[in-house]
Amino acid sequence: MKKITVIIFLSICCLLAFQVKYRDFQPGQVWEDDLGLHINAHGGGFLIQEDTYYWFGEHKVEGAEGNKAQVGVGVYSSKDLFNWKNEGIALEVHDDPNSLLIKGCVIERPKVIYNEKTKKFVMWFHHELKDRGYEAAMTGLAVSDNVTGPYSYIKSVNPHAGIWPTNYPDSLKSLPVDLDKFERPSPEWKEAVVNGVFLRRDFEKGQMARDMTLFVDDDGKAYHFHSSENNQTLHVAELTEDYMDFTGNYTRVLPGQQNEAPAIFKKDGKYYMFSSGLTGWNPNPGKSAVADHPLGPWTPLGNMVRGTEDEMKTTFWSQSTAVIPVIGKKDAFIYVGDRWVPENPIDGRYIWLPIEFENKRPVLRWRDSWDLSFFDN
Ligand code: DGJ
Repeated sequence: MKKITVIIFLSICCLLAFQVKYRDFQPGQVWEDDLGLHINAHGGGFLIQEDTYYWFGEHKVEGAEGNKAQVGVGVYSSKDLFNWKNEGIALEVHDDPNSLLIKGCVIERPKVIYNEKTKKFVMWFHHELKDRGYEAAMTGLAVSDNVTGPYSYIKSVNPHAGIWPTNYPDSLKSLPVDLDKFERPSPEWKEAVVNGVFLRRDFEKGQMARDMTLFVDDDGKAYHFHSSENNQTLHVAELTEDYMDFTGNYTRVLPGQQNEAPAIFKKDGKYYMFSSGLTGWNPNPGKSAVADHPLGPWTPLGNMVRGTEDEMKTTFWSQSTAVIPVIGKKDAFIYVGDRWVPENPIDGRYIWLPIEFENKRPVLRWRDSWDLSFFDN
C-alpha cells in the first residue's frame, strides 16, 4: 500500500473511533458530546427524524444562577443514542427588555415535535418570566423550518382562559374560590383542590402550565401535558392541527395527586405516563399511570421503580423527563430522567434506563451500564 493510502486509512479509523466513543449507557456518569463537553440538555425532549435522534434541553451554566436561562435551549443529534453531536443553541434568549424571552427568565423541559402538514418544527417549553420566580407558570412556543433551529419565539400563554375542561362537572363550576377558608394542608383543603378551586381561580386569566411534555399520536394529533392548578393537577390539552395553539379540548387528569415531570409513551394501543411528586429539585418516588386515550381517564399504576428502598424513594435519584422509543426495535423504550444539581446545574446528570414490562406495568431497574442489546432478549 502506498504511504498516502495508509495515512488516509488511519485517519478514517481515528475519525470513526472518535465518533463511536460510547458503546453503552452509563447512567449518572459524565456524558461527553463530540466536543468532549458534558452534554448540556437538561429536562430533555427527544425527536426522531428518519434515522436520527435529536435531544433538546435546558442549557445550564455554572453556579446557582445557571438554572435560569442565560443561553437558551441546546440541541444534539445522534444516530445510535450513545454518541451525541453538539448542534449548538436551537432557541436563544437575548437582551431585548421588551421580549419575554430575555436572559434570566426560566426555560424548562423544552419539547419539539414535527408537523407533517406545515413542515415546521414546533417547540413548546415551560416559561417563567424574569424576576418573577415561578408565578407566571406559562407555556412558551417557538418554531423553525430546521430541526436544529434557529427557532423563532412566538408567544407564552396561560392556556384555556374562559374554557372549562371537558371532564369538569357543571355542578362544580359555580362553587366559590374560597382558598382562605382552609388550613393547608387539611382534608378540606385537599377536597377543595380536587374539586378544582385553583381551576376556578384561573378560569378568566388562563390556567397555570409548569412541568410539561408533548405527545404526538399515530393519527398525527398532538397533546400538551402540563402540571397545572398549583402543580396539584395535570392538564392534558389537544393542540391545533398546526401544533401552534390549543384547540380548547382539554381534561383534568389525576386531580389533587400532585404530578410533575410527565413523560408519555404508547405501547400496544395503551398510553403510559411516568411522572414525579413535588419536591423542587430533590428527587421523590416515581409514579406511573395508564390510559386508553391521551385525554384520559388515567389510572395510577404506582411506583415504577424496582430496587432498594432508597432507589424507590428517589427514582434512582432522578426525575422523569422523557421516554424514547428506539428506532427499529419493537417495544423498546428508554426512560430518561434528570439528576439535578441545583447548586451547579451544568453538572446535572442523566439517568437512562431500559423500560421493562411486568404484569402489563412499565418498570425500571438500576444498571451501571447497559446497551441496546438489552431489547433483543
Ligand atoms: C421540579 C420541576 O420538575 C423542575 O422542572 C423545576 O421546575 C423544579 N421543580 C424547580 O424547583
